[in-house]
Amino acid sequence: MIRSVITGCGAYAPEKIMTNAELEGIVDTSDEWIVQRTGIRQRHIAAEGETTADLGEKAARNALDNAGVGIEDIDLIILATSTPNNTFPATSVEIQHRLGMKHGAAFDSQAVCSGFVFALTTADQYIRTGFSKRILVIGAETFSRILDWTDRTTCVLFGDGAGAVVLEACEQDGKPSDRGILTSHLRSDGAHREKLFVDGGPSTTGSVGHLRMAGKEVFRHAVGMITDVIEDAYKATGYTSDELDWFVPHQANKRIIDASAKKLKIAPEKVVITVDHHGNTSAASIPLALCEAVNDGRIKAGDLVMLEAMGGGFTWGSVLLRW
Ligand code: UT7
Repeated sequence: MIRSVITGCGAYAPEKIMTNAELEGIVDTSDEWIVQRTGIRQRHIAAEGETTADLGEKAARNALDNAGVGIEDIDLIILATSTPNNTFPATSVEIQHRLGMKHGAAFDSQAVCSGFVFALTTADQYIRTGFSKRILVIGAETFSRILDWTDRTTCVLFGDGAGAVVLEACEQDGKPSDRGILTSHLRSDGAHREKLFVDGGPSTTGSVGHLRMAGKEVFRHAVGMITDVIEDAYKATGYTSDELDWFVPHQANKRIIDASAKKLKIAPEKVVITVDHHGNTSAASIPLALCEAVNDGRIKAGDLVMLEAMGGGFTWGSVLLRW
């Protein structure tokens, strides 16, 4: 059977780093509060004029180089973002143009912090049906542009960045020991849409708006939702936490990651953590973390890797794959 295998990954974080100490000068907060409640020590912030397309393009170029392929080998680009350059056209089309891709297609996908898991699962379906052979899946965000920098309950949590992977069709045996994406599980429930949202948009206010979050409410649901979709992945494949080599969760809050890993009995040394230096980069957080663990040699060929995310909507999902 055809499986979708990640053959390369790339990442890009803006040059400017904002520490918790700098935030102390902007809102009534402290390094101690931020570290204790979230595990975040710093985040990257896009420079003036630096856009989601800029970050996504850089991550995409790195992923293409890492996979050893050119843009002519890609037939589809899917960009996960909630902070597009413009309302339309899709930011993926801007990236497609900058990469010099004149063939195929590009579109954006929007599931906020679960965006990368949704985009990767979409790409997997295109590959397994034979529609595409090689897809560039990008997660890129400039959340700094939709933050209310007077609201200490949200502005300390997020950062900017981008990550990308090349996903490729590979003939495999159809067994759980295969390489590639083994199973994916996506969920959403719009009953929770007002717990994490942006208070503006083209069809409502005609403005961009700012991120609003009932943090405690999100926290309360996060661990249960995350563990549910991971257990779905175990049921679908027969694997258990013991057999996982790496757990690469969405990086929103270290306390959520730790509590999820504990509930699932995933050993702490198998958990990839980047929230300390990236903050929550929404759709970019998983590919940024994945790329870091691949580049520093932790994730190796043959490793069993669990990805998961939960975010605005609510949306949540898991992808189990063999590297
Ligand atoms: O990507 C997916 C979406 N996002 C998430 O997963 C985030 C989910 N939520 C969270 O991570 C946590 O709820 C937060 C980190 C947002 C907040 O942590 P918490 O432990 O739930 O704190 P809290 O909201 O209960 O606030 C505790 C106190 C409050 O003061 P009082 O009412 O107890 O006097 C807040 O006003 O901390 C205060 N506070 C702050 N203090 C210093 C809130 N934000 C800050 C701040 N600095 N930045």
